[in-house]
Amino acid sequence: MTFDPFNELAGGSALRFDEGQQDDYCLPVASHSPETERLDYLHDVYKYHAGNVPDEVAKLLSDGNQRRILDVGCGTGKWALEMVEAFPDIHITGVDLYHPPITAFPSNFHFEIHDVTKGQEYADDTFDVVHARDLHAGMPEYHVMLVECIRVLRPGGYLLLKEIEWVPKLLDGGDAEQRFPAICERTFRNALSERFLDPLVGINLESYIDNVPGLVDIQYSRHMVPMTPWSDDPILNYTGQMTRMAMAILGGTIRVMLLDHGEPNPDNRYKAGIEELKDLTGQPIWYFGSIIARKQGELRDSEGTTDQYAEEMMTEEEET
Ligand SMILES: C[S@@+](CC[C@H](N)C(=O)[O-])C[C@H]1O[C@@H](n2cnc3c(N)ncnc32)[C@H](O)[C@@H]1O
Repeated sequence: MTFDPFNELAGGSALRFDEGQQDDYCLPVASHSPETERLDYLHDVYKYHAGNVPDEVAKLLSDGNQRRILDVGCGTGKWALEMVEAFPDIHITGVDLYHPPITAFPSNFHFEIHDVTKGQEYADDTFDVVHARDLHAGMPEYHVMLVECIRVLRPGGYLLLKEIEWVPKLLDGGDAEQRFPAICERTFRNALSERFLDPLVGINLESYIDNVPGLVDIQYSRHMVPMTPWSDDPILNYTGQMTRMAMAILGGTIRVMLLDHGEPNPDNRYKAGIEELKDLTGQPIWYFGSIIARKQGELRDSEGTTDQYAEEMMTEEEET
């Protein structure tokens, strides 16, 4: 049966609270349905609004070198899988706290379990591209994560970031909190702050980037996404549908976190949110911020460089 977040209280709870997991991440593991569905819906939203990679990076990844990519907090691995299909010459390393829901990895997609709040395991100047998307709920010190991403980037390599702005708005600029009080409710944001996480990383993405050294050619863009399928435009309608599904799932999976935060009745809150998401007479929207930046220096071809990383990968692949 197909999972329908509108007909059941989605997800139950964040596994990490229920099953005694040892890390501090406040959302369910990406391999656990319906979190898998939520992340894959959002993946489509990001892709339809901003592409998997910008054109200049697509050009680099098609230049015939085996370009190396790090996907930090790779979640379900959907972005990485689409990337290796689109750019067969590349090699992607995905890292996350938990294994993605993938049984057979393509040979150029390598996955490692690692808590990136403890730093990246890789040598300086290892990757041509570092991708980090939607990580604010796992990074109490987002800027420290950025510094590590820059360290492992090769000079001239690209840093690609995307983060959600957790502040619903109305297309016409009206008062979203008055029109959609349940969707705009701030308990989740407050619960993140209580856990020393910054729910406003998306809004502050530019200043986070301005405050880490070593980057040049910084391009920031902000993308508007419908929160429900109110638009006649087919793409916006689709991303509105995907967002609505993702929000309905999130509303269910954060209930234990909200109880922990002191919210007395997260289920009523969830039901009120679902009713608002069904109402297509308003035009609620959200934004995500996107950064493309380069590490200072000139990017060389990977051929002819000392390549300890590639040797390590090949040895591991031979062993498996
Ligand atoms: C909201 S999901 C986004 C997944 C993926 N980047 C995407 O955009 O679809 C955040 C991911 O970051 C991972 N994560 C959170 N904290 C982490 C940490 N300290 N180290 C590694 N991964 C982490 C989570 O397990 C989860 O898969």
